[in-house]
Amino acid sequence: MKSLNVELGNKSYDILIGSGLLDRTADLLCEAVFAKKYIIVTNPTVDKLFGNKVKENLSTRNLPLDLLTVPDGEKYKSLDSAGSLYEGLTACFAERGTPILALGGGVIGDLAGFVAATYMRGVPLIQIPTTLLAQVDSSIGGKVAVDHGKLKNKIGAFYQPHLVISDTDTLRTLPQKEFANGMAEVIKSAVIRDISFFIFIKENLTAIMKQGGDIIEDMVFRAAAIKASIVMQDERDTGLRNILNFGHTIGHAIESVSKFKISHGQAVAIGMIAEAKIARSMGTFEKYELEELEKLISHCGLPTRMPEIDRSSILRAMQHDKKIASGKIRFALPRNIGDVYLTDTVEPDIVREAMED
Ligand code: NAD
Ligand code: GLY
Repeated sequence: MKSLNVELGNKSYDILIGSGLLDRTADLLCEAVFAKKYIIVTNPTVDKLFGNKVKENLSTRNLPLDLLTVPDGEKYKSLDSAGSLYEGLTACFAERGTPILALGGGVIGDLAGFVAATYMRGVPLIQIPTTLLAQVDSSIGGKVAVDHGKLKNKIGAFYQPHLVISDTDTLRTLPQKEFANGMAEVIKSAVIRDISFFIFIKENLTAIMKQGGDIIEDMVFRAAAIKASIVMQDERDTGLRNILNFGHTIGHAIESVSKFKISHGQAVAIGMIAEAKIARSMGTFEKYELEELEKLISHCGLPTRMPEIDRSSILRAMQHDKKIASGKIRFALPRNIGDVYLTDTVEPDIVREAMED
């Protein structure tokens, strides 16, 4: 097992990463937040795969447990689902000190995290991420939210977990498409911060795509460490944390214009290439770096070309996005692989050209 500490004063917490951690949940929980009762929040897909394992493990230490489920899917990351969970928590007599264990991907982590932040003005939250995206990104850093109307993550909070338990064995059952979605965020973290990590991914890609073993543990650890270090420097997303948006300015717009038919990871993959092209138009990022990035993205089974959707609607969607500073679109653009900068001076024509290319 590898571990990281997210140092945030009295909100600091550990991220534990490794194989077989679900079989040690009870011990790990008791060390972090001992309570009279725990509540798992999950969905039926994840419950079927890992619910019993966690339940059985907690029963070895006689830790009382209730389990609440919401249906699987982004459309259930909603205020309605939060409402049913509040009712479930009340029915289970959950109190202020009753920890919520968010067992699942980013949807469950964001929703259960939002409920933990708001039920009785906040109960302890333990993230137990089971997708690659959740292990390297969404379980770290305390952004919790639900979608509202057509807008993603419209209602939310910053609410740090007490502990993150990332059992890399859970990734073995992930469909290939979901694994690839997570790889988009892994590649992003390398491009913004660490060229040696980019080379590591490139050199070990065949083993990585088999979704198992020590290599996955190393990869999740390195990507999680990058995210954690950025969160530690800018917990409330007022500056540096914006660099995590590399590929997301265009990516989010593609996702929303496609009405979420194009997945987050696919949209971020296309967004990273388009934004790297913008960087080239702005005078940074070498041609060979763009080629390396394209090759890596496509070897992960992710798209590299813009889908057949209207470019003007993508531009319009970008203008509605939250990554806007005083009316200007903010981009995180790579200088080189491993180094990125923030700018809000990109002219719309340059964005249009990068998308046409
Ligand atoms: P997801 O939670 O929908 O999971 C994808 C699918 O995989 C689901 O059907 C899920 O039930 C299933 N699944 C989960 N674990 C599995 C496993 N081990 N084996 C087989 N199937 C499994 O999607 P996601 O990509 O994990 O997360 C996307 C969400 O994360 C979005 O709502 C996005 O907004 C959010 N997000 C949040 C942050 C943040 O900082 N809070 C960052 C990035 C993304
Ligand atoms: N996923 C972006 C962030 O956590 O800031």
